[in-house]
Amino acid sequence: MTIVAIDGPAGAGKSTVARRLASDLGWAYLDSGAMYRAVTLVALEEGLPLDDAEALARLAGQLDIDLAADGTLRLGGRDITGLIRGPRVTEAVSRVASVPAVRAVMVSHQRRFAERNAGVVAEGRDIGTVVFPDADLKIYLDADAGERARRRLRQEDEVGEGADEAAVRADIEARDRQDQSREASPLRVADDAWRLDTSGMTLDEVSAAVLKRVRSAVRP
Ligand code: DC
Repeated sequence: MTIVAIDGPAGAGKSTVARRLASDLGWAYLDSGAMYRAVTLVALEEGLPLDDAEALARLAGQLDIDLAADGTLRLGGRDITGLIRGPRVTEAVSRVASVPAVRAVMVSHQRRFAERNAGVVAEGRDIGTVVFPDADLKIYLDADAGERARRRLRQEDEVGEGADEAAVRADIEARDRQDQSREASPLRVADDAWRLDTSGMTLDEVSAAVLKRVRSAVRP
C-alpha cells in the first residue's frame, strides 16, 4: 500500500489536486472530509443537537458509510455525494469533526479504506499527522484566505449560487480557526510534510507541481 497524504485548510485546492493525482496515477481517492460531512448530514436530518457529543458519536458508529475509490459516497445505499456539499452541512461540519469519538470512528474507516487499495491519495486535515503518520509522502497545501475565498466563489459561480467575497472569506477564516484550535487532531503541518503555498497559482499549476513531486519522491 502506497499512500500520499494531502492536508491543508479549506480552499487550498486539496480536493481538485487529490482527485486529479489519483486519476493520473490510477489510485484510489480518499476524501476524508466527505466522511465528516456524511455524519453531519444525517445529524441535521435527524435533528440531533450538535453539542451532544455522545449522540453524534453513537450516530457515527451506526452509519453504513460506503466511500468508493472514485469519491462517490453512499450511506446505506443512498447516494449522498451531492447532498453533503450543501451550505447547511458546510456550516455545521467543523463542530461535528471536533468530537473525538466521531473522529475515532472516521479514522478507522479511513484506515480500512487504505487497506483495500494498493495506492491511495488521501486528503483532509489530519491525514499525515494522525491517520497515516507513515505515509510515503506528506503534502501540505496552503493559500492565503483571500485567494481561497475567490476560488470558492468561482466554484459556486459554476453551480450558480453566488455570494460575496467578504462573507465567504469570513466563513473560511472561521472554519480555519475551528479546525486549527480544536483539541482533537487540529489542523497542523506535519514535521516531514512538503509545504506548497498555492497563492497565485492556478490549480493546473498546483496539480503539475504535486505530480512532479510525487513522481520523484514515491516513484510510482
Ligand atoms: O475538506 P472539507 O471541507 O470537506 O472538510 C469538512 C470538514 O471536516 C472541515 O471542517 C474539516 C473537517 N475535517 C477534519 O476535521 N478532518 C479531516 N481529515 C477532514 C476534514
